[in-house]
Amino acid sequence: MEPNKPCWCGSGKKYKKCHKAFDEKLHTLMLQGKIVPGHELIKTPEQIEKIRISAQLNTGVLDAVAREIRAGMSTQEIDDIVYTYTTEHGGIPAPLNYEGFPKSVCTSINDQICHGIPSEDDILEDGDIVNVDVSTILDGYFSDASRMFMIGDVPDNAKRLIKVTEECVLKGLEAAKPWGYLGDIGEAVNTHAMANGYSVVRDIGGHGIGLEFHEDPFVSYVTKKGTEMVLAPGMMFTIEPMINEGSCEYVVDEDNGWTVYTYDGGLSAQIEYMVLITDTGVEVLTK
Ligand code: MF3
Ligand code: CO
Repeated sequence: MEPNKPCWCGSGKKYKKCHKAFDEKLHTLMLQGKIVPGHELIKTPEQIEKIRISAQLNTGVLDAVAREIRAGMSTQEIDDIVYTYTTEHGGIPAPLNYEGFPKSVCTSINDQICHGIPSEDDILEDGDIVNVDVSTILDGYFSDASRMFMIGDVPDNAKRLIKVTEECVLKGLEAAKPWGYLGDIGEAVNTHAMANGYSVVRDIGGHGIGLEFHEDPFVSYVTKKGTEMVLAPGMMFTIEPMINEGSCEYVVDEDNGWTVYTYDGGLSAQIEYMVLITDTGVEVLTK
């Protein structure tokens, strides 16, 4: 690219004063055999601003659920809260009709790993743990995060699983650094889960996000330090490991084609942060 032409990122600055050194760094890494992101995975300053606003709404939706969630409530009621809050604030729930998904949010209880479908028939009971996974489209920009909720009095093993899952995400976050590797996150998550006697779900993982619901790269939590894609400033993706009490084996519900269960019936927990790699570190956009 011409050094004096406006940079491809849309900053309005000259290329030589903007992403030229960045491109050269990526090129060198590529020649060393590293996996490097294409420009399509680097968000421009304007996109980042728009996606931040979508992410703020996404957090607002999760906060609305947090205020209302309680024993005796059906997961359909959670879906209603998500749909109403999101649309009243000008957004669209991203899961609704996404590849045929029938509802506005995923609600995954106890041994459900992910992609639980809200239903009038699923009533939250005292002692349940539930993941509520909220994804929002605002002004065409996508955001995504999930939290674990404990319903009433939860057994100690479930509490410990949630605590360790949260620690796994925080370890992953700490390992996420500009010019580091995606595998640094995977190893940090996996090491902590294993040290606590848990397993990490393979094949299902995080993803790039922002302009689409699911973009590259795929984010695995069983990868090794120094491997996978280079983390360049401007990349956005989710850290959302699924941690199982027992084995990491899973089965997908044959009737609805969505809901993923632990094979052994053990508990599973998931917490999802959506992050942006910046020049100096990492910014959590919604959690
Ligand atoms: N929110 C999920 C994720 O973190 C995506 C679920 S797809 C859906 O990637 F259709 F089930 F919503
Ligand atoms: Co996600």
